[in-house]
Amino acid sequence: MELKGVILAGGLGKRLYPLTKITNKHLLPIYCKPMIYYPIQTLVNAGIKDILIVTGGMHAGEFLRLLGNGAEFGLTHINYTYQEGEGGIADALRLARHFAKNSKIVVILGDNIIEKNIKKAVNEFRKQPSGARILIKKVDDPERFGVVGFKGKKIASIEEKPKKPKSDYAVTGIYMYDNKVFDIIETLKPSGRGELEITDVNNAYLKKGELECSMLDGWWTDSGTFDSLLRASNLVASAARNKCI
Ligand code: G1P
Repeated sequence: MELKGVILAGGLGKRLYPLTKITNKHLLPIYCKPMIYYPIQTLVNAGIKDILIVTGGMHAGEFLRLLGNGAEFGLTHINYTYQEGEGGIADALRLARHFAKNSKIVVILGDNIIEKNIKKAVNEFRKQPSGARILIKKVDDPERFGVVGFKGKKIASIEEKPKKPKSDYAVTGIYMYDNKVFDIIETLKPSGRGELEITDVNNAYLKKGELECSMLDGWWTDSGTFDSLLRASNLVASAARNKCI
């Protein structure tokens, strides 16, 4: 069965206030394009053409006006759904159940920008009979992210924004799940920041012995803070040699 793609593009983007006071974070510019263009292109480059965008807030309609049916990406259709309120990444993902049906899904956070292609990891996931696969990347500031702890080469733990990270490997915002993910989400309790955490989803797979990981090639950045938003634009600009590609 074909893999389906889910882009999570809701939230209030509070860390970017006042930039996000009158628009959605994922519509802000990264170099010469709106942020949401990049995760769509990431999925399309990996061969995923059936895509759902989960968004919310006051500006959800702008996504339709901007993207339409996805012709700019060679798509003939884009699916959209609306997240009421602000319940976290796993709460947004819950809304993809209806869209996913029995397919496995590749999920990407709308503010995650990458240099290279994730095709290899996606193909590994295609071959994986069940479970989940996360993409990890060595970073200088792991305490900003979900962080992996290792036992040998195997993942032993994932902690969300730990004060004392067990490694320099961040869990990027690209996740691959089988259909169990939706039942797992139903069992979650809100975290200290009042959200259903994607890290808790990944830990549930880890507990079942069903969490695989791949190393992400090339640079990766989120773009949800002033510094990372600027870094994302600079990385995209220099990768494209200051041409809009
Ligand atoms: C989220 C996840 C975190 C992950 C990061 C990647 O963090 O909770 O585990 O490492 O995305 O971008 P947030 O952006 O919600 O702080």
